[in-house]
Amino acid sequence: MEEMVKVASSESLKPGLGLLVRVGEQRLAVFREADKIYCVDDMCPHAGASLAQGTVCQGVIYCPWHQWGFQGKDGKCVTGSIWHVDSYRVVEKDGAVWVSISPSDDK
Ligand code: FES
Repeated sequence: MEEMVKVASSESLKPGLGLLVRVGEQRLAVFREADKIYCVDDMCPHAGASLAQGTVCQGVIYCPWHQWGFQGKDGKCVTGSIWHVDSYRVVEKDGAVWVSISPSDDK
């Protein structure tokens, strides 16, 4: 059964910007863009930057260091790399953001 964890209040997610959250030992980056919310692993697979310090534009999360882009919906890299980040299902309800702690498998 899928386990959802409350990671943030709705108001703490600012449009276009990332928010670093922790679930146990995991560091996750959460982004809001229009009516969508994305959650991916925080660590960029290129050189370890925090993706939560990046931005999101048209569904793509951009790393702050070298601008690799990862699709928010599935974590696939869109800037040529074979690398990806895990993505997680997100639900917003009752003024809070909830994340499924199992990676989404729609890669
Ligand atoms: S550390 Fe993310 S693109 Fe280089």
